Amino acid sequence: MEIHEALYTTRMMRRLRPDPVPLDVQARILDAAVRAPNGGNTQRWHFVAVDDPELIHEFGELFRQGRALEYEKFRTGQGPMAVPGPGADPAAHVETMRRIKGSGDYLADHFDEVPLLLFVFAIDDLGGANIYPAIWSVLLAARAEGVGGVMTMVLNNFRDRVNELLGVPVVEGWKMSAMLTLGYPRGRWGVAANRRPVHEVSSRNHWDAPFGVEVPQPLWSPRDQTPPALAAVG
Ligand SMILES: Cc1cc2nc3c(=O)[nH]c(=O)nc-3n(C[C@H](O)[C@H](O)[C@H](O)COP(=O)(O)O)c2cc1C
Repeated sequence: MEIHEALYTTRMMRRLRPDPVPLDVQARILDAAVRAPNGGNTQRWHFVAVDDPELIHEFGELFRQGRALEYEKFRTGQGPMAVPGPGADPAAHVETMRRIKGSGDYLADHFDEVPLLLFVFAIDDLGGANIYPAIWSVLLAARAEGVGGVMTMVLNNFRDRVNELLGVPVVEGWKMSAMLTLGYPRGRWGVAANRRPVHEVSSRNHWDAPFGVEVPQPLWSPRDQTPPALAAVG
């Protein structure tokens, strides 16, 4: 797959088919992921693949409880999802949250059908910085295999139970960074177009100064792979 197609279309896919993800596919995904940068190349990461239906069922119960907690925070204006970034359109944020809730509800209701969970652990992930490159590589490599999924944090509400269920050697310092649901998507991949454009979120040399070029629409599309002309602005 061409790299831009992967970068532009690796969406979070929450509606998955129950078909198993073959072991060789899983191996290729993780083999790509462990190439990711990490501080000092200490590689203090560990990936636990879960495909046991009973365990998936158990995690589904926790997932639903965790979501309820997160949406309660959201309802009361707390947590990372509650407010859009400064300068962002509040109406667009409401719409985004509505869509995420819709597909998240589907995932929660059909959790038992998810064929593969991938728990990602790290020792001192530096606030995520030391593990997110690898997690993003998992999702990109999965995309190249036609496998989709979503990175979730809701099980962080139940770290102790997750550690217990997976037998995590916590004394060594392992801590869950994220849990990914993975499988073959029911829907189609599309460009993540619901992003504020580059010129709204970037500047040059000084916070208030223009970035220097406007990017009114994504520079890659599945139909026309030629980038549109860029208009430099003063
Ligand atoms: C740190 C982080 C945590 C996330 N946690 C969740 C989550 O718990 N549940 C979920 O459904 N999506 C989660 N997501 C996915 C985001 O909701 C998603 O990337 C965003 O809505 C944009 O969707 P798109 O990538 O499909 O365009 C998370 C993403 C990140 C980077």
